[in-house]
Amino acid sequence: MRVDRFLSNLPRFNRKQVRLLLVEKRVRIDGKIVSDPHAEVLEFSRVEVAEEVLQVGKPARYFMLHKPPGCVSATRDPEHPTVLDLIHEPNRDDLHIAGRLDFNTTGLMLITNDGQWSRRLTQPQTKLPKVYYVETEQEIGPQYALKFAEGLYFAFEDLTTQPAELIVLGPKAARLSIVEGRYHQVKRMFGHFDNKVLRLHRESMGPLVLDNALKPGEYRALRTEEIHLI
Ligand code: URA
Repeated sequence: MRVDRFLSNLPRFNRKQVRLLLVEKRVRIDGKIVSDPHAEVLEFSRVEVAEEVLQVGKPARYFMLHKPPGCVSATRDPEHPTVLDLIHEPNRDDLHIAGRLDFNTTGLMLITNDGQWSRRLTQPQTKLPKVYYVETEQEIGPQYALKFAEGLYFAFEDLTTQPAELIVLGPKAARLSIVEGRYHQVKRMFGHFDNKVLRLHRESMGPLVLDNALKPGEYRALRTEEIHLI
């Protein structure tokens, strides 16, 4: 929310007073003086007016999990364990998943309470490459890379996928980099060639790479420099 709106929503200030506070440089967000009425106040921001704290700001939290097979990318599920069941942190209900994986897909999963951060990570416009290691039932032919680079038409969504890069690693193994995250995207791309995906593992999302030290089911907090990469 804009800082001028945040302040004028409080019963103690009217709009004129808010304008004055900003002009007089008496408002701080996260310790920095702001005079721009458009400056953004997040739920994580500390807001002070003339040395008085109006909002402490709740801590933003970011985790990297090595998703094991056999768990659901959801916050709740009546039948199966969920990825959030693996996160042993206070206020788990505040957390959400940035970019889901299918039940048996393994690999990098990012979990946070910061909606803006997770949107930057997942929205197709950002074009952040998501890299998957794939094993298939049939051999991967030379025509795959070309087709994936061209884009595939998905009738259900009525769209053509963004160019994707395929590196063939073996007769039935490849590394695929895609910049969006359509429903079952990788499986549907290989499905175009009637080739079933038998193993799918996400190695990275943009600059964030699954930490080798994490075994399936383990997680860790992201480091500050990792958070700022997104
Ligand atoms: N594409 C899929 O088909 N499944 C996943 O879990 C991720 C990407």
